[in-house]
Amino acid sequence: MVSSYVPDCWHVDSSLVRDAVGWEQLYRMRVVPWDQKVPTPALVDLVEKHWPTELPRGHTALVPGCGTGHDVFYLAGRGYDAVGSDISATAIARCKERATVNGQTNVRFFTADFFKHAHEQQFDIVYDYAFFTSMPPSSQEDWARICAECTRPGGVFVALMFPTDVTVGDGPPYVLSLDLYKRILEPYFELVHDDPACPSGPGRIGRERMLVWRRRI
Ligand SMILES: C[S@@+](CC[C@H](N)C(=O)[O-])C[C@H]1O[C@@H](n2cnc3c(N)ncnc32)[C@H](O)[C@@H]1O
Repeated sequence: MVSSYVPDCWHVDSSLVRDAVGWEQLYRMRVVPWDQKVPTPALVDLVEKHWPTELPRGHTALVPGCGTGHDVFYLAGRGYDAVGSDISATAIARCKERATVNGQTNVRFFTADFFKHAHEQQFDIVYDYAFFTSMPPSSQEDWARICAECTRPGGVFVALMFPTDVTVGDGPPYVLSLDLYKRILEPYFELVHDDPACPSGPGRIGRERMLVWRRRI
């Protein structure tokens, strides 16, 4: 199961995470090396340092592909009504259990395939971390369109690019670049914040780039 592809962050054979069954199996086996067990440092930095002055505060947040939900719980802790979704029922069950244990009422989780779910709500903030890079190139334009549909006009789409240093190979993680984000997101969003030196957790320093996009009205 050890991969030679991105040994310091992914640690699993890419072929195991190309469909719903694969993701679910890894969550069941608790083989989740992408899970940092804490809120993403770059998201915390954005919200604590930049958000109050540069970006509008919102009230609702969506984290698609939320895994075990650390970022959802973080945003809820900052006062947002936060929603997390994931294709893995096991990951979502762990999120729901944690919400129950914490007695947290401003979080909601549901199991769904992001590409097939009929999203009926628009959010002030949509946050993507390590989800986009898990999707094959054939899904990228759909990902951008659905992220836009989920973001209210004037709201923000926060895309933390990771890993920035994978330039070849067949993912996940798939190859990312600023040009790629711009090509598929600019029809819907304007780039308003770009931080290539955002703080990162162990093994990820210098390999992440925080991008914030405002939904065009
Ligand atoms: C690399 S993990 C990142 C999880 C989480 N964002 C984190 O940082 O820990 C990618 C996540 O996307 C989920 N996922 C994969 N395909 C999905 C899909 N089509 N719809 C929703 N979630 C999906 C996986 O189950 C997994 O939790």
